[in-house]
Amino acid sequence: MAKKIHLTGFMLFAPAPHMIMSWVYPREKIKYQWYEIEYWEHIAKTLERGKFDMFFFADGWAGGTSPIGVRYAIQFPNHDPVSLVAYLAATVKKLAFAVTMSTTFYAPYMLTRKLSTLDHITKGRIGWNIVSSIGAAEAHNFGMDSLPPHDERYDRADEYMEVCYKLWDSWDDDAMMMDMERGIFADPDKIHPLNFKGKWYKVEGPMTVIPSPQRRPYLFQARSSDRGREFAARHSECIFASAIGVAGMREFCEDIAARADRYGRNPKDIKIIWGAQPLVAPSESDARAKMHEIRARIPFEASLALMGGHFGIDLSKVDIDKPVGDIDAPGTKGMLDSYRKANPNVTFREIAKTYLSGSDDNPMVGTPKQVADCMQYLVEEGGGDGFQITPAFYAPDYFDELTDQLVPVIRRRGVLRTEYEGRTLRDYMTL
Ligand SMILES: Cc1cc2nc3c(=O)[nH]c(=O)nc-3n(C[C@H](O)[C@H](O)[C@H](O)COP(=O)(O)O)c2cc1C
Repeated sequence: MAKKIHLTGFMLFAPAPHMIMSWVYPREKIKYQWYEIEYWEHIAKTLERGKFDMFFFADGWAGGTSPIGVRYAIQFPNHDPVSLVAYLAATVKKLAFAVTMSTTFYAPYMLTRKLSTLDHITKGRIGWNIVSSIGAAEAHNFGMDSLPPHDERYDRADEYMEVCYKLWDSWDDDAMMMDMERGIFADPDKIHPLNFKGKWYKVEGPMTVIPSPQRRPYLFQARSSDRGREFAARHSECIFASAIGVAGMREFCEDIAARADRYGRNPKDIKIIWGAQPLVAPSESDARAKMHEIRARIPFEASLALMGGHFGIDLSKVDIDKPVGDIDAPGTKGMLDSYRKANPNVTFREIAKTYLSGSDDNPMVGTPKQVADCMQYLVEEGGGDGFQITPAFYAPDYFDELTDQLVPVIRRRGVLRTEYEGRTLRDYMTL
C-alpha cells in the first residue's frame, strides 16, 4: 500500500516567511496584507479545505538591527504567532496549529500555562515546536550578552522538558470534581506540587490550568546536529527536518530510528516532515519560468544575510568563495553540517544561492502530476511522513493554488486524507 503523506502549512507571522522577497506581488492581486487578520484567516480556511494537518508557525525574537534585513524584510518584522493562533483556531473547526516557543526565553511555567490554555481553546489542536534559539541578537533582547553555547542549550532544554512534563502531569485526571452538591471544586490530594530544583530551573508548581484535551501539546522539534538529534529522539513526536537528497533523507531517518530505539521508543512514534516549496503550473516550463522569476527578485546580499543569521556567522568577515572547511556555526550547526557532508568543498556563496529560497532545479516545480510524483518518490525512497510547505509567493494565493491544483491529484492516489480522523493534532498525526 502506498505510504500516506502529511501536509502542513509553514510560515512566520511575517511579510516573507522563508522565500526572501515573497512579499513582492502585483498590487492589483493583493486582497489583504500579512499584517491584517483576514490574510491569515484566508490561509487557515484554505489549509482546512485541503485537509492539511496543521498550520505551523516558526518564530524568532530579534531583527531590525541589520540594514539589509530591514531593507528586504528578512524574517523581519515578525509578529507573535501565539496570539494569532488563539484567534485563528476559532475561524476553522478542524485544522490544527503549531507554534514555536523558545526554551531560552520563556520560563517553563509561563510556556506550559500558555500552551495548555491554547490546547483548551483549540480543543486539542495545538503543537509546540521546541527551540532553544539561535542568535546572539535574540539574547540581547532578553538581558543576555549571548546565548548559552550550542550543546549547553540542549542540556538546559532537557531539564526544561522535565519541568514541563511534571507541570503537565501535576493534576490527576479526576482532580477537578465540581461537586455542586457538596460544594467541592477539586480534590487537593490529586493536585501535586513539583518542588523541582534542578541545575537551571526551580519551580514549585502545580499548574494553574486544568488538564487540557491533549494534556500536553503535540511536540515538534527542528534540528539536526548530533546533540540536536539526540534531543529529538528523546522528546519529539514529530521532527521538522531538512536533508539534502534522498540519501540525506534516508540517513536522517535511520539515524533518528536508531537513537529512538536507544531511548526505548518505537521509531514509528517519531514522525518526520520535510521542508518543501512546491510550485505548480499547467506545464513544467511554465512552472520553471514562474519559479525563476520569483528567485530572480532575491538580492544575493539578502540570501547571504538570512543564511549568516541562521548559522550565527558574520559572513562579512569570511571569504565566501573559499570552502567553508570546519568553521563553527553556533546557530544552526546541523544545517551547515549537512551542506558540508553533501559537498566537502562547498562555499558559502554556493550555499547562499539556494538557501531556503530553493534552487533552479527544485524537483517540486512542475505540473501537479510531476510534483505529486516527486512527493511520493521522496517519502517512499527517502523516508519520512510528509512535507512542511512554505509559500514561494503571496501566501493566500499560493496555498489556494496548491489546494486547488496539487492536493486533488495527490488525494486521488489515496495517500492523502479525505476527512479528518479524530479530534486532536496528535490524532491527525498518529491515526
Ligand atoms: C528546519 C528547521 C527549522 C527551524 N525553525 C526554527 C524556528 O522557527 N525558530 C528558532 O528559534 N529556531 C529554529 N530552528 C533552529 C533549531 O531549533 C536549532 O536551534 C538549531 O537548528 C540548532 O540546532 P542544531 O545545530 O542541532 O540543528 C530551526 C532549525 C531547522 C533545521
